[in-house]
Amino acid sequence: MISIYKPSDFHVHLREGEILNQALKENIAYFQKILVMPNLKKPITNSKRLISYRNQIESINKNKIKIFFTIYLNSEWSTKEIVNCYKNKLFFAAKLYPKNATTNSKTGFSDIKDLTKYFYILEKHNIPLCLHGESISYQDDPFDREKKFLEKELSWLRKHFPNLKITLEHITTKDAVDYVKENKNISASITTHHLLENTNSFLGDSLKPELFCKPIIKNRNHQISLQKIALSGHKNFFFGSDSAPHYKKLKFNNECCAGVYSTKYSISNIIEFFSLNKKTKNLNKFLSLNGNTHYGLDFLKKEISFKKIKNYKFQKLSKCGDDFLCHYNHFKDYWSKI
Ligand code: NCD
Ligand code: ZN
Repeated sequence: MISIYKPSDFHVHLREGEILNQALKENIAYFQKILVMPNLKKPITNSKRLISYRNQIESINKNKIKIFFTIYLNSEWSTKEIVNCYKNKLFFAAKLYPKNATTNSKTGFSDIKDLTKYFYILEKHNIPLCLHGESISYQDDPFDREKKFLEKELSWLRKHFPNLKITLEHITTKDAVDYVKENKNISASITTHHLLENTNSFLGDSLKPELFCKPIIKNRNHQISLQKIALSGHKNFFFGSDSAPHYKKLKFNNECCAGVYSTKYSISNIIEFFSLNKKTKNLNKFLSLNGNTHYGLDFLKKEISFKKIKNYKFQKLSKCGDDFLCHYNHFKDYWSKI
């Protein structure tokens, strides 16, 4: 048996409608706190959409868990509106997407410098900035996008806004691990699938659409550096699942949407991974302490316990509306809540 504080997930996609219903229920079962991403079909680029999305979510949640919201930072916002919404505690962090980097990012930035006036506001009011850290250039290899982002956009941002609190989201490379270790005011979130998969499992034998996500899963060397830093409990690295449900017909199609839906088995997978590596003493750091400390948040020291079930029959698909969602799982054994 293993007992841990009820975890926090600092990067989830809940979507809307039927998917929201299902994804939120799964989050309520495992997390005491989640940070919800703003990349809806119509992204959260004004207070009206923010309030409406909050209401949709809170009417299902009914205060069962703590839900923190993000806004989709682009030039549709006025700086005044951002400050007002923040002061009224309508959102917790701003999220920045490069144009066309991922799902629903058409209205992301082309040149980060165009958003300078917003970074002043974020820095001044201590509003955290969450980054989708990929530089998009069709001259470069997609596997190099994260590294390029560190060299280009992130270095610029840190040089001009050294006091801005930054989260580099869903990191995938040794370069990102090193960058975060060497710099101040920056932490990184790590997903379950980037910890447990690499290019061999993703496309070595056959191509696995269910593992296609942004940033793309990297090779074994990068995976090892993510694994080492997560297992070490280093204070600047914490869990953010980036659980991103897509309907099956959109994942298994001519074109495959980017996103891995991991919520249902994430905590089981993370426990098994720390347990196999004899590092369960650092589970609370990775799943609770580090993220909450980075964001300056309190958390409930309420424990939940898990027991291991060998050779569990994992549910691969669940019905959602007239389609299905595909659940991500890695290990054969299951850590079940008791
Ligand atoms: C996410 C999604 O589907 O919303 N997809 C993904 O591959 N991770 C967006 C994101 O965080 O990149
Ligand atoms: Zn995401």
